[in-house]
Amino acid sequence: MQLDQPGSVISTESLLVELGGLPILREVSVAVGSGELTALMGGNGSGKTTLVRALLGLIPHQRGTITLFGTPLESFRDWHRVGYVPQRGAVVIKQATVREVVSSGRLAHRRAFRPLSPRDHAQIEAALTEVGLLERANTPFIELSGGQQQRVLIARALATEAELLVMDEPFAGVDLRVQDELAELIGRLNAAGTTVLVVLHETGALAPLLTNSIVLREGRVIHTGAPPEHPAPHHDSPGLTRPRLMTGIGEGVA
Ligand SMILES: Nc1ncnc2c1ncn2[C@@H]1O[C@H](COP(=O)(O)OP(=O)(O)O)[C@@H](O)[C@H]1O
Ligand SMILES: [Mg+2]
Repeated sequence: MQLDQPGSVISTESLLVELGGLPILREVSVAVGSGELTALMGGNGSGKTTLVRALLGLIPHQRGTITLFGTPLESFRDWHRVGYVPQRGAVVIKQATVREVVSSGRLAHRRAFRPLSPRDHAQIEAALTEVGLLERANTPFIELSGGQQQRVLIARALATEAELLVMDEPFAGVDLRVQDELAELIGRLNAAGTTVLVVLHETGALAPLLTNSIVLREGRVIHTGAPPEHPAPHHDSPGLTRPRLMTGIGEGVA
C-alpha cells in the first residue's frame, strides 16, 4: 500500500519505537491527509502519546520512516507549520500569563533575541480572540479552569499559524459542556483548512466532525478509515446534529 501520497501531511511506514528497551509501537504505517480531522484512538497505554511524540521528533524511532509535509522527519525544519497541544498536565505552567503562554507559540517565527514584532502581536491577539480568551490575556494561566487552559494551549498552537494541529487528549478532565465548545473550536479550525490529528479516548463531541481515524491496540494499528461507531453518545445526542460551527466559542465559560 502506498501511504505517502502527495497531500499526506503525516505519513509513517513500518514504524518501530522502543522505550526502556521494550517495543511500544510496532509496524505502524499511517497517513494523515491534508485537510482531514483524524482521531487517534485506543485504550490506555496503547501507544497514542508515544506515536504523537515520535511523529513530532520528540522521541527517536528505531525503525521505519516518518514524513511530514512530504519531507523526511530527519530533514524537516518547518516547525512553524506544526502546532502541538500536549496532554494537559504534561506541561506545568506556574508563572506565565495567558498572553505569555500564547506568545511562546511565536518562537518558531522569531530570530533569536529579537522582541516580538507587530505581526507577532497581531497573531497572538488573533489567536486569543479565536478561542474567546482575549480578555483573560493577563490572567495567570494557572488560575484558569481546565477547559480554558486547553483553549490557551490551542491558541498557542494557532499563534504559530500551524497548518497541522496535533492535540493529545484535549477533552481529558474537562466537563461535557466544555468538550462541546472545544469540539466546535476544533471543527471551526478544520473547516478553515487546518489539518487536525487529535488523540481521543472516545469520539464523543467530535464524532460528527471526524473524517478519519486510526485505532491502536498494544502498539499496533488495528483500524484506519471511518471512525469506529460510537457505542454510547456521551450525552443528549440531538446536539450532535445541530449546525454548530457558526456560533462563537467562549460565551458562558466562566
Ligand atoms: N518512557 C517510557 N519508558 C518505558 N515505557 C514507556 C515510557 N513511556 C510510555 N511507556 C509505555 O508505553 C506504552 C504506551 O504509552 P502511551 O504512548 O503513553 O499510551 P497512551 O497515550 O495510548 O495511553 C505504555 O505501556 C507505557 O507504559
Ligand atoms: Mg496518552
